[in-house]
Amino acid sequence: MLTRIRYYLSAQASSIPVYILEQFILTLFGWIPTALGVALRSLAYRLIMKLEGAVAIEAGARLVWANNIRLGAGVFLDHGVYLHALPGGISIGEGTSVMHHTMLHVFNFRDLPHAGITVGKNCFLGEFNVIRGQGGVLIGDNVYTGPMVKFVAVNHVFADPHRPIREQGITAQGIVVEDDVWLGAGVTVVDGVTIGRGSVIGAGAVVTTDIPAYSIAVGVPAKPVKDRRQMEKNSKQDANIFFGELEQIRNQSLSGGTQ
Ligand SMILES: CC(C)(COP(=O)(O)OP(=O)(O)OC[C@H]1O[C@@H](n2cnc3c(N)ncnc32)[C@H](O)[C@@H]1OP(=O)(O)O)[C@@H](O)C(=O)NCCC(=O)NCCS
Repeated sequence: MLTRIRYYLSAQASSIPVYILEQFILTLFGWIPTALGVALRSLAYRLIMKLEGAVAIEAGARLVWANNIRLGAGVFLDHGVYLHALPGGISIGEGTSVMHHTMLHVFNFRDLPHAGITVGKNCFLGEFNVIRGQGGVLIGDNVYTGPMVKFVAVNHVFADPHRPIREQGITAQGIVVEDDVWLGAGVTVVDGVTIGRGSVIGAGAVVTTDIPAYSIAVGVPAKPVKDRRQMEKNSKQDANIFFGELEQIRNQSLSGGTQ
């Protein structure tokens, strides 16, 4: 029984005193609704995690191993976001938004050497994204994901058909997404893959091999079908491009402007 409790607690925090402090602060401030709750959390959560400026954390965000989480100034964590920062930790860069029910889980229960999740500056992770960071997931700056995108930096070994897969261990090499990539809804990125700078990955693709910079890649498995640098002007897009006042305000706040 005691072993089970110890195992449970080791998955929740780096030590028992840290567990008590984190649970106390999260219970006290984690539920408070409205902008008041957002402001109080931006102050109080400094006691349990690394905050590099004002952040906006909605009520009901779940933070586990909080002392391994770093958030840059202006980070937004929506309601239902779940960050589980086992050894290797989670770092989210300045101005990045993480939307409703997105989960970043380092999932390092096996002393994996490269585990961890790093998301760069001014990224947008859409709703219901999942990042599993066993092999390390490194996402650059200005990366945008649609809803239900998954990055799974791990594979189960299944070489021996006579033993349960769960007993055969895992491999975990890591995933890299370079700057300025857009991944459409429902994309899955598997372990060992690098997606080159400036690429667009079409909705529903499964990325199983490296994608060269500035590709548009679609399908299962994802294959580059165009190079953005050699595309003719995209009349489809030119017809209806939308920018809004709210986006301008956001951009100004990210660049530190006061207008
Ligand atoms: C990839 C995408 C951006 C289109 O890019 P594009 O440069 O305009 O490409 P085209 O529409 O000219 O398509 C090129 C080819 O890829 C195919 N294709 C496009 N999107 C595809 C997709 N998601 N899956 C499979 N094939 C796709 C097209 O059918 C076309 O094939 P063809 O040459 O055999 O006719 C778009 O189709 C897409 O997937 N958008 C994601 C939308 C989304 O998830 N939004 C969420 C908001 S964050």
